[in-house]
Amino acid sequence: MATYSAPGKVFLFGEHAVVYGKPGIAMAIKPRVYVTVRKASQVHYGKSPYIEACFREMGVRGSIYINSQIPSSSGLGSSAAVTVATLAAINDEYEMGMTREEIADRAFSIEKNVQKGRASPTDTSVSTYGGMFFIMEGKRRRLAPQNYNLVIGNSMISHSTTRMIELVAEMRNKNPEICNPVLDAIEGVTMEAMRYLHDSQRLGKLMDVNHALLDAIGVGHPVLTRLVLAARATGAYGAKTTGAGGGGCMIALAPKNFRNRIAGAIEVFEGRAIITSVDTEGFRKENDG
Ligand code: PMV
Repeated sequence: MATYSAPGKVFLFGEHAVVYGKPGIAMAIKPRVYVTVRKASQVHYGKSPYIEACFREMGVRGSIYINSQIPSSSGLGSSAAVTVATLAAINDEYEMGMTREEIADRAFSIEKNVQKGRASPTDTSVSTYGGMFFIMEGKRRRLAPQNYNLVIGNSMISHSTTRMIELVAEMRNKNPEICNPVLDAIEGVTMEAMRYLHDSQRLGKLMDVNHALLDAIGVGHPVLTRLVLAARATGAYGAKTTGAGGGGCMIALAPKNFRNRIAGAIEVFEGRAIITSVDTEGFRKENDG
């Protein structure tokens, strides 16, 4: 029996634009998924196409138990975390000797297949290694992890990442003269953010701009904007939609002593708040108890 965990993630900047070769910045966060794999001839994979693909591609059979702290379909990377932790547990249980890098690559190829070819390596990289990453054109660069105080607001409106990616693609086909400059502007915001990773105040302002640009390409949601405004009104440095949008989550960058107040405001507007910070560890072995 082998138990592994892997962290969730948030996009700080650049979601959607990364699909078009632009840069993005993402960070691993504290809620984790825990996966236990045991050699068995009786197979119980539940309904997850990700888990099924992990066992099939590794060429083994076994049973699996999952305990997730990450809400699914909310833009916090739960499917990547499950895939990474499952591959790591299979790798250990069946003594396959895969490296961390091989697990990251295999997890990305599984995500991409299940999502019909549309995925950036953001979620699987962040979940495998932890910390912060700059992603561009399918490549990842590790950044020094920052000690940001984050408040996540889950709108509790489930979204389909694939559908949101399609919406942007449709807009880009129909109105390239509107959509492309907005994607360029998101790139500008991300590159500016790279210069101010140590300065939460400036970063917050850039998050506000990124939020408006995501609204402009049609991936906003009134509930997300309400949560964003509530966070700003209660003292956040800045706040934005995170991930695919159209529902899912927003994040606020906050001064440490304002986190509870911001979380309270998010809950008043019927969001679920999670106070969190960077998780510098990627997947790790857990004690089987
Ligand atoms: O739903 P999420 O958090 O996985 O966000 C998807 C972010 C996109 O940029 C739209 C797609 C991707 O794979 O990067």
